[in-house]
Amino acid sequence: MAIVEQGTALRDYENIVILQSLLRNSTIVDLPERYVWTQALRRNLAQEYVLNEEVPDLALPIIDVSCLLDGSGDSAAKKKVSAEIGAACAEWGFFQIINHGIPEELFKEVDIQARKFFALPVEVKEKAKYDPRRKDKIVCGYNGRLTRLSYNTPWMEYFADRGDVEQLTKMIWPEGNPALSKPLQEFWRNFHRLGQDLLEVLATGLGLEPRFFSRLFDNNVYHRSTWRYNHYPACPRPDLTLGTGPHSDPNLFTLLKQDAVGGLQVKKDDKWVDVSPVPGALIINVGDALEAWSNGRYKSVEHRVLVNEKSDRFSAVYLMAPAEAQIVEAPPQLIDDEHPSLYRPFLYGDYMTHMMSIRLAGKNCLDYARRDKAPPQGQ
Ligand code: OGA
Ligand code: NI
Repeated sequence: MAIVEQGTALRDYENIVILQSLLRNSTIVDLPERYVWTQALRRNLAQEYVLNEEVPDLALPIIDVSCLLDGSGDSAAKKKVSAEIGAACAEWGFFQIINHGIPEELFKEVDIQARKFFALPVEVKEKAKYDPRRKDKIVCGYNGRLTRLSYNTPWMEYFADRGDVEQLTKMIWPEGNPALSKPLQEFWRNFHRLGQDLLEVLATGLGLEPRFFSRLFDNNVYHRSTWRYNHYPACPRPDLTLGTGPHSDPNLFTLLKQDAVGGLQVKKDDKWVDVSPVPGALIINVGDALEAWSNGRYKSVEHRVLVNEKSDRFSAVYLMAPAEAQIVEAPPQLIDDEHPSLYRPFLYGDYMTHMMSIRLAGKNCLDYARRDKAPPQGQ
Protein backbone atom coordinates (compact mmCIF):
# COMPACT_ATOMS: atom_id res chain seq x y z
CA MET A 1 0.00 0.00 0.00
CA ALA A 2 1.48 3.30 -1.03
CA ILE A 3 1.02 5.90 1.64
CA VAL A 4 0.87 9.39 0.23
CA GLU A 5 1.58 12.63 1.91
CA GLN A 6 -1.53 14.68 1.66
CA GLY A 7 -1.27 18.38 1.10
CA THR A 8 2.39 18.62 1.93
CA ALA A 9 4.99 20.54 0.02
CA LEU A 10 7.60 17.92 0.83
CA ARG A 11 9.16 16.66 -2.35
CA ASP A 12 11.91 14.12 -2.66
CA TYR A 13 11.42 13.08 0.91
CA GLU A 14 13.66 10.06 0.40
CA ASN A 15 16.48 12.53 0.71
CA ILE A 16 15.15 15.07 3.10
CA VAL A 17 12.89 13.17 5.42
CA ILE A 18 13.65 14.06 8.95
CA LEU A 19 11.06 13.68 11.61
CA GLN A 20 11.18 17.25 12.71
CA SER A 21 10.50 18.67 9.27
CA LEU A 22 7.63 16.25 8.88
CA LEU A 23 6.17 17.10 12.23
CA ARG A 24 6.38 20.83 11.68
CA ASN A 25 4.18 20.27 8.68
CA SER A 26 0.86 19.97 10.43
CA THR A 27 -0.97 18.90 7.29
CA ILE A 28 0.59 15.47 7.34
CA VAL A 29 -2.00 12.85 8.08
CA ASP A 30 -0.22 9.80 6.72
CA LEU A 31 3.33 8.68 7.08
CA PRO A 32 5.84 8.81 4.24
CA GLU A 33 6.28 5.34 2.88
CA ARG A 34 9.68 4.72 4.37
CA TYR A 35 8.26 5.01 7.89
CA VAL A 36 5.54 2.47 7.14
CA TRP A 37 6.78 -0.86 8.44
CA THR A 38 6.13 -4.18 6.80
CA GLN A 39 3.05 -5.90 8.15
CA ALA A 40 5.04 -8.71 9.77
CA LEU A 41 6.96 -6.29 11.97
CA ARG A 42 4.17 -3.88 12.84
CA ARG A 43 2.19 -3.98 16.03
CA ASN A 44 -0.27 -6.86 16.15
CA LEU A 45 -2.28 -7.17 19.33
CA ALA A 46 -2.58 -10.94 18.91
CA GLN A 47 1.17 -11.11 19.56
CA GLU A 48 1.05 -9.16 22.82
CA TYR A 49 0.39 -10.21 26.39
CA VAL A 50 -2.17 -8.19 28.24
CA LEU A 51 -1.04 -7.78 31.81
CA ASN A 52 -4.10 -8.06 33.99
CA GLU A 53 -5.46 -10.21 36.78
CA GLU A 54 -5.25 -13.26 34.54
CA VAL A 55 -1.51 -12.96 33.95
CA PRO A 56 -0.23 -10.94 36.90
CA ASP A 57 3.10 -12.78 36.98
CA LEU A 58 4.37 -11.44 33.74
CA ALA A 59 5.74 -8.18 35.08
CA LEU A 60 9.49 -7.82 34.79
CA PRO A 61 11.39 -8.52 38.05
CA ILE A 62 12.09 -5.40 40.11
CA ILE A 63 15.26 -5.81 42.17
CA ASP A 64 16.42 -3.61 45.05
CA VAL A 65 20.18 -3.13 44.65
CA SER A 66 20.79 -0.83 47.63
CA CYS A 67 23.31 -3.33 49.04
CA LEU A 68 25.67 -2.54 46.13
CA LEU A 69 26.05 0.99 47.48
CA ASP A 70 26.87 -0.23 50.92
CA GLY A 71 30.65 0.10 51.20
CA SER A 72 30.68 -2.35 54.10
CA GLY A 73 30.04 -5.07 51.51
CA ASP A 74 27.31 -7.07 53.23
CA SER A 75 28.15 -10.27 51.43
CA ALA A 76 24.93 -12.12 52.34
CA ALA A 77 22.83 -9.32 50.85
CA LYS A 78 25.04 -9.19 47.73
CA LYS A 79 24.75 -12.93 47.29
CA LYS A 80 20.98 -12.68 47.43
CA VAL A 81 20.94 -9.89 44.84
CA SER A 82 23.34 -11.87 42.59
CA ALA A 83 20.97 -14.83 42.71
CA GLU A 84 17.93 -12.65 41.94
CA ILE A 85 19.70 -10.93 39.05
CA GLY A 86 21.05 -14.24 37.76
CA ALA A 87 17.55 -15.71 37.74
CA ALA A 88 16.13 -12.62 35.96
CA CYS A 89 18.89 -12.78 33.31
CA ALA A 90 18.21 -16.47 32.70
CA GLU A 91 14.45 -16.14 32.54
CA TRP A 92 13.88 -12.70 31.06
CA GLY A 93 17.20 -11.22 29.99
CA PHE A 94 15.64 -8.03 31.39
CA PHE A 95 14.95 -6.60 34.85
CA GLN A 96 14.41 -3.28 36.60
CA ILE A 97 16.50 -2.04 39.51
CA ILE A 98 15.53 0.36 42.27
CA ASN A 99 17.64 2.10 44.95
CA HIS A 100 20.58 2.22 42.54
CA GLY A 101 21.95 5.47 43.97
CA ILE A 102 21.77 7.73 40.88
CA PRO A 103 19.91 10.82 42.07
CA GLU A 104 16.55 11.62 40.49
CA GLU A 105 17.57 15.32 40.25
CA LEU A 106 20.30 14.36 37.78
CA PHE A 107 17.77 12.58 35.58
CA LYS A 108 15.48 15.62 35.76
CA GLU A 109 18.26 18.02 34.77
CA VAL A 110 19.36 15.84 31.87
CA ASP A 111 15.76 15.47 30.72
CA ILE A 112 15.31 19.26 30.60
CA GLN A 113 18.53 19.69 28.62
CA ALA A 114 17.79 16.81 26.25
CA ARG A 115 14.35 18.23 25.44
CA LYS A 116 15.97 21.58 24.63
CA PHE A 117 18.52 19.83 22.43
CA PHE A 118 16.01 17.82 20.40
CA ALA A 119 13.82 20.93 19.96
CA LEU A 120 16.67 22.68 18.08
CA PRO A 121 16.34 23.04 14.30
CA VAL A 122 17.63 20.04 12.39
CA GLU A 123 20.32 22.17 10.70
CA VAL A 124 21.76 22.97 14.12
CA LYS A 125 21.61 19.42 15.44
CA GLU A 126 23.18 18.11 12.26
CA LYS A 127 26.34 20.11 12.92
CA ALA A 128 27.07 17.18 15.26
CA LYS A 129 25.84 14.53 12.91
CA TYR A 130 27.34 11.12 12.52
CA ASP A 131 30.16 11.21 10.03
CA PRO A 132 30.78 7.89 8.25
CA ARG A 133 34.36 8.99 7.59
CA ARG A 134 35.04 8.46 11.28
CA LYS A 135 34.74 4.77 10.50
CA ASP A 136 33.26 4.16 13.90
CA LYS A 137 31.69 0.81 14.41
CA ILE A 138 29.06 2.57 16.43
CA VAL A 139 26.97 5.34 15.02
CA CYS A 140 27.92 8.45 16.97
CA GLY A 141 26.70 12.03 17.03
CA TYR A 142 23.22 13.24 16.13
CA ASN A 143 21.19 11.05 13.82
CA GLY A 144 17.77 12.01 12.48
CA ARG A 145 17.99 9.98 9.27
CA LEU A 146 18.01 6.43 10.44
CA THR A 147 18.36 4.51 7.26
CA ARG A 148 20.86 1.92 8.38
CA LEU A 149 20.53 -0.94 10.80
CA SER A 150 16.97 -2.02 10.13
CA TYR A 151 14.70 -2.82 7.21
CA ASN A 152 12.30 0.01 7.97
CA THR A 153 12.98 3.51 9.18
CA PRO A 154 12.34 3.92 12.89
CA TRP A 155 10.25 6.85 14.14
CA MET A 156 13.01 8.34 16.29
CA GLU A 157 16.13 10.46 16.42
CA TYR A 158 19.09 10.17 18.75
CA PHE A 159 22.25 11.74 20.05
CA ALA A 160 25.08 9.35 20.93
CA ASP A 161 28.79 9.07 21.49
CA ARG A 162 31.48 7.08 23.17
CA GLY A 163 33.71 9.81 24.39
CA ASP A 164 33.70 13.22 25.88
CA VAL A 165 30.33 14.98 25.71
CA GLU A 166 32.03 18.38 25.66
CA GLN A 167 33.86 17.60 22.40
CA LEU A 168 30.58 16.57 20.83
CA THR A 169 28.67 19.65 21.94
CA LYS A 170 31.52 21.85 20.65
CA MET A 171 30.63 20.69 17.14
CA ILE A 172 27.47 22.76 17.59
CA TRP A 173 28.60 25.42 20.04
CA PRO A 174 32.32 26.13 19.49
CA GLU A 175 32.51 27.80 22.92
CA GLY A 176 30.89 24.78 24.48
CA ASN A 177 27.53 24.40 26.15
CA PRO A 178 28.17 23.32 29.74
CA ALA A 179 24.45 23.49 30.61
CA LEU A 180 24.05 20.46 28.35
CA SER A 181 27.45 18.76 28.46
CA LYS A 182 28.01 18.87 32.24
CA PRO A 183 24.89 17.02 33.37
CA LEU A 184 25.12 14.60 30.42
CA GLN A 185 28.72 13.78 31.28
CA GLU A 186 27.82 13.32 34.92
CA PHE A 187 24.96 11.08 33.89
CA TRP A 188 27.13 8.72 31.83
CA ARG A 189 29.82 8.66 34.50
CA ASN A 190 27.19 7.49 36.97
CA PHE A 191 25.87 4.87 34.55
CA HIS A 192 29.39 3.57 33.99
CA ARG A 193 30.14 3.32 37.70
CA LEU A 194 26.89 1.52 38.41
CA GLY A 195 27.52 -0.69 35.38
CA GLN A 196 30.84 -1.81 36.84
CA ASP A 197 29.15 -2.78 40.11
CA LEU A 198 26.51 -4.68 38.19
CA LEU A 199 29.17 -6.53 36.20
CA GLU A 200 30.48 -7.93 39.47
CA VAL A 201 27.04 -9.13 40.51
CA LEU A 202 26.45 -10.63 37.06
CA ALA A 203 29.74 -12.56 37.29
CA THR A 204 28.96 -13.79 40.81
CA GLY A 205 25.54 -14.93 39.66
CA LEU A 206 27.27 -17.17 37.10
CA GLY A 207 29.59 -18.62 39.76
CA LEU A 208 32.59 -16.70 38.34
CA GLU A 209 35.00 -14.60 40.34
CA PRO A 210 33.48 -11.14 40.88
CA ARG A 211 36.03 -9.28 38.73
CA PHE A 212 35.64 -11.59 35.72
CA PHE A 213 33.89 -8.92 33.62
CA SER A 214 34.60 -5.70 35.47
CA ARG A 215 38.39 -6.08 35.01
CA LEU A 216 37.79 -5.50 31.29
CA PHE A 217 37.00 -1.89 32.16
CA ASP A 218 39.99 -1.20 34.39
CA ASN A 219 41.51 2.21 34.01
CA ASN A 220 43.09 2.59 30.64
CA VAL A 221 41.64 -0.30 28.73
CA TYR A 222 39.90 1.18 25.70
CA HIS A 223 36.41 -0.16 25.99
CA ARG A 224 33.64 0.48 23.45
CA SER A 225 30.85 1.56 25.78
CA THR A 226 28.48 4.07 24.22
CA TRP A 227 25.80 6.38 25.54
CA ARG A 228 22.72 7.29 23.54
CA TYR A 229 19.80 9.62 24.16
CA ASN A 230 16.70 8.60 22.19
CA HIS A 231 13.74 10.78 21.22
CA TYR A 232 10.57 9.17 19.92
CA PRO A 233 8.23 11.96 18.76
CA ALA A 234 4.48 11.53 19.07
CA CYS A 235 3.26 9.98 15.83
CA PRO A 236 0.00 10.52 13.91
CA ARG A 237 -0.14 6.84 12.87
CA PRO A 238 1.48 4.71 15.60
CA ASP A 239 -0.18 1.63 14.15
CA LEU A 240 1.98 1.81 11.00
CA THR A 241 5.44 2.33 12.41
CA LEU A 242 7.78 1.55 15.31
CA GLY A 243 10.14 3.70 17.38
CA THR A 244 12.72 0.92 17.38
CA GLY A 245 12.20 -2.38 15.63
CA PRO A 246 12.72 -5.80 17.22
CA HIS A 247 16.41 -6.25 18.01
CA SER A 248 18.77 -7.47 20.67
CA ASP A 249 21.68 -5.36 21.89
CA PRO A 250 25.16 -6.49 20.74
CA ASN A 251 27.09 -5.50 23.86
CA LEU A 252 27.59 -6.97 27.34
CA PHE A 253 24.58 -5.32 28.89
CA THR A 254 22.59 -2.11 28.69
CA LEU A 255 21.38 0.31 31.35
CA LEU A 256 18.28 2.21 30.33
CA LYS A 257 16.30 5.06 31.89
CA GLN A 258 12.89 5.51 30.35
CA ASP A 259 10.46 8.32 31.10
CA ALA A 260 6.88 7.82 32.29
CA VAL A 261 5.35 7.46 28.80
CA GLY A 262 5.96 3.75 28.19
CA GLY A 263 6.34 1.92 24.88
CA LEU A 264 9.24 -0.47 25.48
CA GLN A 265 8.30 -4.13 25.07
CA VAL A 266 10.30 -7.34 25.49
CA LYS A 267 9.73 -10.74 23.96
CA LYS A 268 8.70 -13.44 26.36
CA ASP A 269 7.77 -16.90 25.07
CA ASP A 270 7.19 -15.43 21.61
CA LYS A 271 4.84 -12.67 22.78
CA TRP A 272 5.49 -9.03 23.58
CA VAL A 273 5.24 -7.80 27.17
CA ASP A 274 5.21 -4.13 28.22
CA VAL A 275 8.09 -2.87 30.32
CA SER A 276 5.93 -0.59 32.44
CA PRO A 277 7.62 2.54 33.70
CA VAL A 278 8.47 2.32 37.42
CA PRO A 279 9.31 5.70 38.99
CA GLY A 280 13.03 5.98 39.73
CA ALA A 281 13.87 2.56 38.29
CA LEU A 282 16.49 1.69 35.70
CA ILE A 283 16.07 -1.12 33.22
CA ILE A 284 18.93 -3.54 32.67
CA ASN A 285 19.13 -5.95 29.76
CA VAL A 286 21.58 -8.64 28.74
CA GLY A 287 23.34 -8.14 25.38
CA ASP A 288 24.60 -10.67 22.82
CA ALA A 289 28.20 -10.63 24.12
CA LEU A 290 27.05 -11.57 27.63
CA GLU A 291 24.83 -14.33 26.26
CA ALA A 292 27.85 -15.81 24.44
CA TRP A 293 30.19 -15.25 27.40
CA SER A 294 27.78 -16.97 29.77
CA ASN A 295 27.39 -19.89 27.34
CA GLY A 296 23.73 -19.04 26.94
CA ARG A 297 22.80 -18.97 30.64
CA TYR A 298 21.99 -15.27 30.47
CA LYS A 299 19.65 -14.45 27.59
CA SER A 300 19.95 -11.50 25.23
CA VAL A 301 16.29 -10.92 24.49
CA GLU A 302 14.51 -9.17 21.65
CA HIS A 303 12.88 -5.86 22.46
CA ARG A 304 11.24 -3.02 20.55
CA VAL A 305 9.67 0.40 21.12
CA LEU A 306 6.11 1.42 20.21
CA VAL A 307 5.26 5.05 19.56
CA ASN A 308 2.00 6.75 20.43
CA GLU A 309 -0.19 9.57 19.23
CA LYS A 310 -0.12 11.76 22.33
CA SER A 311 3.33 12.07 23.84
CA ASP A 312 6.93 12.30 22.82
CA ARG A 313 9.04 9.73 24.65
CA PHE A 314 12.66 10.01 25.75
CA SER A 315 15.05 7.33 26.90
CA ALA A 316 18.72 7.26 27.84
CA VAL A 317 20.79 4.14 27.28
CA TYR A 318 24.32 3.21 28.25
CA LEU A 319 25.68 0.21 26.39
CA MET A 320 28.55 -1.40 28.31
CA ALA A 321 30.89 -2.96 25.79
CA PRO A 322 34.44 -4.36 25.96
CA ALA A 323 37.40 -3.37 23.78
CA GLU A 324 37.32 -4.40 20.12
CA ALA A 325 40.31 -6.66 20.62
CA GLN A 326 38.58 -8.52 23.44
CA ILE A 327 37.89 -12.19 22.84
CA VAL A 328 34.37 -13.19 23.82
CA GLU A 329 34.57 -16.77 25.05
CA ALA A 330 32.72 -18.70 27.71
CA PRO A 331 35.09 -19.77 30.52
CA PRO A 332 35.58 -23.51 31.19
CA GLN A 333 33.53 -23.31 34.43
CA LEU A 334 30.41 -22.75 32.33
CA ILE A 335 30.96 -25.66 29.95
CA ASP A 336 30.27 -29.28 30.82
CA ASP A 337 28.36 -32.30 29.51
CA GLU A 338 25.06 -30.74 30.45
CA HIS A 339 26.07 -27.33 29.05
CA PRO A 340 28.05 -27.91 25.86
CA SER A 341 29.77 -24.91 24.34
CA LEU A 342 27.18 -23.03 22.25
CA TYR A 343 29.31 -20.27 20.69
CA ARG A 344 32.69 -20.21 19.05
CA PRO A 345 35.07 -17.58 20.47
CA PHE A 346 35.04 -14.28 18.58
CA LEU A 347 36.53 -10.81 18.77
CA TYR A 348 34.08 -8.20 19.96
CA GLY A 349 35.24 -5.83 17.17
CA ASP A 350 34.53 -8.49 14.52
CA TYR A 351 31.07 -8.96 15.95
CA MET A 352 30.39 -5.21 15.72
CA THR A 353 31.59 -5.22 12.11
CA HIS A 354 29.26 -8.11 11.35
CA MET A 355 26.36 -6.37 13.06
CA MET A 356 26.87 -3.18 11.07
CA SER A 357 27.04 -5.16 7.84
CA ILE A 358 23.61 -6.78 8.17
CA ARG A 359 20.25 -5.21 8.49
CA LEU A 360 19.01 -5.89 11.96
CA ALA A 361 15.72 -7.64 12.37
CA GLY A 362 14.93 -9.77 15.36
CA LYS A 363 17.59 -11.71 17.12
CA ASN A 364 19.53 -13.40 14.37
CA CYS A 365 22.77 -11.46 14.75
CA LEU A 366 24.28 -13.86 17.29
CA ASP A 367 23.88 -16.71 14.82
CA TYR A 368 27.24 -15.34 13.71
CA ALA A 369 28.90 -17.26 16.55
CA ARG A 370 26.53 -20.18 17.14
CA ARG A 371 28.25 -23.49 16.67
CA ASP A 372 25.06 -25.05 15.30
CA LYS A 373 24.83 -22.44 12.49
CA ALA A 374 27.02 -22.18 9.43
CA PRO A 375 29.97 -19.81 10.00
CA PRO A 376 29.69 -16.51 8.17
CA GLN A 377 31.25 -16.40 4.73
CA GLY A 378 34.97 -15.78 4.59
CA GLN A 379 35.66 -17.31 8.03
C1 OGA B 1 18.12 0.67 22.40
C2 OGA B 1 16.78 0.36 22.92
C3 OGA B 1 14.82 1.12 24.06
C4 OGA B 1 14.17 2.38 24.52
O1 OGA B 1 18.44 1.88 22.36
O2 OGA B 1 18.87 -0.28 22.06
O3 OGA B 1 16.41 -0.78 22.88
O4 OGA B 1 13.28 2.29 25.36
N1 OGA B 1 16.06 1.36 23.43
O5 OGA B 1 14.52 3.45 24.05
NI1 NI C 1 18.04 -2.14 22.55
